[in-house]
Amino acid sequence: MSIAPLYQPPAKAKYQLRSKLGYFAFHQVSRFDYLMRHLRKTLPYLTARKLANLALNLAEWKFKTLVPRSMPPYLKVESTPVCQMSCTGCSHHDPDYKRQFHPAMNLTLEDFKRVIDPVKDTLLGVTLSLRGEPLLNRNLPEIVGYAHQEGIATSFPTNLSVQMSERTAYEIVSSGLDAMYVSLDGTTEETYARYRVGGDFQLVVKNVRLLAEAKKALQSKRPKLIWKLVVFDYNEGEMEIVRRTHKSLGFDGYEFVPDWSGQAFASKKRIFNTRLVQKKRACFFPWNAMVITSEGDVKPCCHEPRDFALGNAIRDGVREVWRGKAYHELRAGFATKTFGKNMHEECKACIGYAEATGPSAQLVQIEERSNEPKQVRADEEIIARHSSENSKLSR
Ligand SMILES: C[S@@+](CC[C@H](N)C(=O)[O-])C[C@H]1O[C@@H](n2cnc3c(N)ncnc32)[C@H](O)[C@@H]1O
Ligand code: SF4
Repeated sequence: MSIAPLYQPPAKAKYQLRSKLGYFAFHQVSRFDYLMRHLRKTLPYLTARKLANLALNLAEWKFKTLVPRSMPPYLKVESTPVCQMSCTGCSHHDPDYKRQFHPAMNLTLEDFKRVIDPVKDTLLGVTLSLRGEPLLNRNLPEIVGYAHQEGIATSFPTNLSVQMSERTAYEIVSSGLDAMYVSLDGTTEETYARYRVGGDFQLVVKNVRLLAEAKKALQSKRPKLIWKLVVFDYNEGEMEIVRRTHKSLGFDGYEFVPDWSGQAFASKKRIFNTRLVQKKRACFFPWNAMVITSEGDVKPCCHEPRDFALGNAIRDGVREVWRGKAYHELRAGFATKTFGKNMHEECKACIGYAEATGPSAQLVQIEERSNEPKQVRADEEIIARHSSENSKLSR
């Protein structure tokens, strides 16, 4: 089955602006794009206190404050590490990796409350995904419902290749979820199956329809349903079909992200990292967000396997971990005077410290000057290191 025959002329969509931006610079989602994505979701929940915390947070990141007074504006809280699929570029492709998780490893509402309650007055948004498939956690609608009731924006990426009843679709829509990024990496069963091992193309398309119909029946504009296409060489030509058909399938918008194991991604990452190291800038993540597994373990970002030993948000509390010794030391690695000296080995590897300070760095600068248009140069680290939700607290 292919989506192309479903084409109908699209109505003017609100998401067109972001979509155009995504198309223009699809090789990386800019920080602007990332912030816009989050702001759009968080605007309805904005309070003076949240705004003040965000402003202070950005200042503290800029000035590299080691123990910030601000709290993280965004949290990424894992719904479950379990996944039913084995996409080729994901850790879940490795059976040994998969085996370490069992179906009961779900975030509970009680643990979620323990995590967000201490920071809910300053929290802008939560993304409910990290390693697995969020919808496998049956507690998800009530977790989302609680965050929504507390005035916190919610979203998550999903493979949506799950059996979904009409009732579940209604529950998801009624929960107050703000956005769902649907991983549909192709417009035909053939291209989809090349990356999405174990996924069911037709089931995903059917579920999008179910959700769109539930939104209509409940007269709800949310969740925004975003078609997220990871762009590979073999599906690059399908971007145009996505642009033309997304509305007729029930989506509100679309997003293109580069394959994180591809050449284009590696090259952008190298250019970005060289600039970050040479200008001694701080990575955004240790200041702006906190990533928490379903068991409460805290990481500064989405990379794994990484043991930063920062603490446990369920046991110790987000505020304590955020201002704790381990986080302090992690941030100190980016201090201007001693940049790189006491940097965590994982951060060094991630930002390519050795490469950026080595003899090949000059070549990268030449590559940067010749390749990068000004607009793209303004793009920042989110996609360069984390792709979408990737990013992108995906975004
Ligand atoms: C690891 S997945 C977890 C959520 C869910 N299981 C899914 O696949 O959407 C998180 C995000 O990574 C994205 N992703 C997966 N493989 C990717 C790749 N090779 N390049 C870029 N992003 C990728 C997915 O599209 C998804 O938005
Ligand atoms: S669906 Fe998501 S978590 Fe599951 S294997 Fe694919 S990318 Fe990984």
